[in-house]
Amino acid sequence: MTKDEARQRIAELSETLERHNYNYYILAQPTISDYEFDMMLEELARLEKEFPEFLSPASPTQRVGGGITKVFQTVTHRYPMLSLANSYSKEEIQEFITRIKKSIDEEVEFCCELKFDGLSISLQYEDGRLVRAVTRGDGMQGDDVTTNVKTIHTIPLRLRGDYPAFFEMRGEIVMPFESFKRLNEERNDEEQAPFANPRNAAAGTLKLQDSKEVARRHLESFEYYMMMDDLESRFSTHYESLMAARKWGFNISNFVGLCKTVDEIFDFINYWDEKRHELPFAIDGIVLKVNRFEQQKILGYTAKSPRWAIAYKFKAEEVETELQSVDFQVGRHGTITPVANLAPVQLAGTTVKRATLNNEDFIRQFDLHYGDTVTVVKGGEIIPKIIGVNLNKRQAGAKAVEFVKNCPICGSQLVQNEGEVAWYCPNVLGCSPQVRGRIEHFIGRKAMNIESLGEGKVELLYEEGLVHNVADLYDLTYDKLFGLEKVITIQDEYSLIPIATRKVSFKEKTSQNILEALEKSKSVPFERVLFALGIKFVGESVAKVLAKALHDIDHIIGASIEEMTQIDEIGEKIALSVKTFFEDQRNIDIVNRLKAAGLQFAIEEKQASDKEQVLAGKSFVVSGVFQHYSRDGIKETIEAYGGKSVSSISSKTDYVLAGDKMGPEKRKKAEALGIPILTEDEFDQMIGVKRNEEFTGLLF
Ligand code: IVH
Repeated sequence: MTKDEARQRIAELSETLERHNYNYYILAQPTISDYEFDMMLEELARLEKEFPEFLSPASPTQRVGGGITKVFQTVTHRYPMLSLANSYSKEEIQEFITRIKKSIDEEVEFCCELKFDGLSISLQYEDGRLVRAVTRGDGMQGDDVTTNVKTIHTIPLRLRGDYPAFFEMRGEIVMPFESFKRLNEERNDEEQAPFANPRNAAAGTLKLQDSKEVARRHLESFEYYMMMDDLESRFSTHYESLMAARKWGFNISNFVGLCKTVDEIFDFINYWDEKRHELPFAIDGIVLKVNRFEQQKILGYTAKSPRWAIAYKFKAEEVETELQSVDFQVGRHGTITPVANLAPVQLAGTTVKRATLNNEDFIRQFDLHYGDTVTVVKGGEIIPKIIGVNLNKRQAGAKAVEFVKNCPICGSQLVQNEGEVAWYCPNVLGCSPQVRGRIEHFIGRKAMNIESLGEGKVELLYEEGLVHNVADLYDLTYDKLFGLEKVITIQDEYSLIPIATRKVSFKEKTSQNILEALEKSKSVPFERVLFALGIKFVGESVAKVLAKALHDIDHIIGASIEEMTQIDEIGEKIALSVKTFFEDQRNIDIVNRLKAAGLQFAIEEKQASDKEQVLAGKSFVVSGVFQHYSRDGIKETIEAYGGKSVSSISSKTDYVLAGDKMGPEKRKKAEALGIPILTEDEFDQMIGVKRNEEFTGLLF
């Protein structure tokens, strides 16, 4: 390919891909398959690598992430980023309108918009290309987060139509609830503190150094304000400017209203106060803006905010209830978490019975007493939170809540690590929630995937004295299992209130399935075995990093803190935790028994394959029936070409390979996560298999 041809093809692909990005993410009307999109994107990336001189900073390949920002540069805003005056009642809105009417004699129309609960961003465009994205900062100066912002699909990298040569678009970056939930689940799996709400999660994400991780977390953006020197000569109203911006490719909310009276405004506000729970992202109010630019000009600005706009903030959803008692829960790593039992109350559409009290400091901070009337909120948070105590309602003689000194389960004296607020039960191998928690973690889907051994069965095996640690699992035999039986109580995941009883019994089939699953788990790759051991701070990805760097368990056991911290992504906290874990002879004994049982304790040397590794690094979920492959056959083919076949769909799945009769649930999940669904033909194309269909008929 000549240079000229390359330039032309790169331009053509970039334009086409950005158009399809717009169709998919903004219009939600894709016109090509995800596979076709991926193929074009790959071609573009290939050409840009070969002809780096034509790589544009606004190329669609930049959305995939990969760029690292070591230090975010401070940038001065060309136009300061002001904030909005807040209001909380109809009276205040009425006053705002009256004030405006004093300066403006004619009819005033208001543009009513959702107040997105995220973080504001300034997007600068030059000749239709996104050149810079800056956070609000202190309003005068913010951080340059361009590399990360480019991964947000709803932010256009190139504009279409008659856009101005230079202008700025202001908007909000939000994390949709779906992404927020997924992220917190992952963080929970990896023992990282969850984000309290989507806004914090979005803010934390935008400041990540690795833009690939930003891309993976699926942020979104809505734009609501245009800024340029001669804005009024182009448009006469704010609404017009928004509609033009939409045509140029910006994600402008569909829920923009034009209202003239306070009643109309309040119909809009009341509607969204109720309907906001149905939106896929958080809003915390409504913004009213005087629509005509001429009128805005007359009203002007205060030092902090425009006089022509105001935010109406929804009332925080909070409620008072009684703190009845406090439970102290023991986690898998022995951490003691106090949980408040509350008199049940309705809050944001659900009944709240419990709220986390986090740790001892939290109890002290509020000086909590039993019987206290506490205020509970549920904003974007998943778990309700206590935000205050009504001291006027405290009963005389109420007893203060004391943090326990001993483990509520095994009675061991609790310990505290230096510099940490958390208390731990040190009885790691003898305290049942810790032991059971570790076994449950070990059999989990992302670890050894011994699905047939659900929670109830672990409880039964533990109580029967058959399994005290994960190595005991591999000593189970048919005779030991068959015939065991127990009625167990199932508790609500968060409230811990018993919700049902279930009989757990080990019949013939169950016992066989468990033994088969245990046998199969012996081929689970080393990194997952390492994760399954349940070492504190060694989540799925840390386990992968350690396994890749140190190859086998003996090297990991023998590695010094210094050796470990030299590995990228391994910090002192993780290294110390690994070291401590293997300093305990009991853990070494368990590892030795697992080794003897035949589990993988070294990474597999890369299998030599005669096939080109075109699927390297890609993970597939296979579902349904295929024309040219058996179920196992297609999985083997994926692996032969360097890919990985995984059993269930997650945000980390690259493709879902759909045969006939693919389960509707799987399809729904894949679509919700935006994972490309491939047909068998598309898969064949990917690996370069050509079939001559003409010869599949009868031959004479
Ligand atoms: S207009 C000059 N419109 O609310 C004022 N702001 O409290 C420009 N926000 O910093 C802002 N949704 O981050 C505007 N539809 C909307 C908004 C919105 C959310 C945020 C924005 C601003 C803050 C003010």
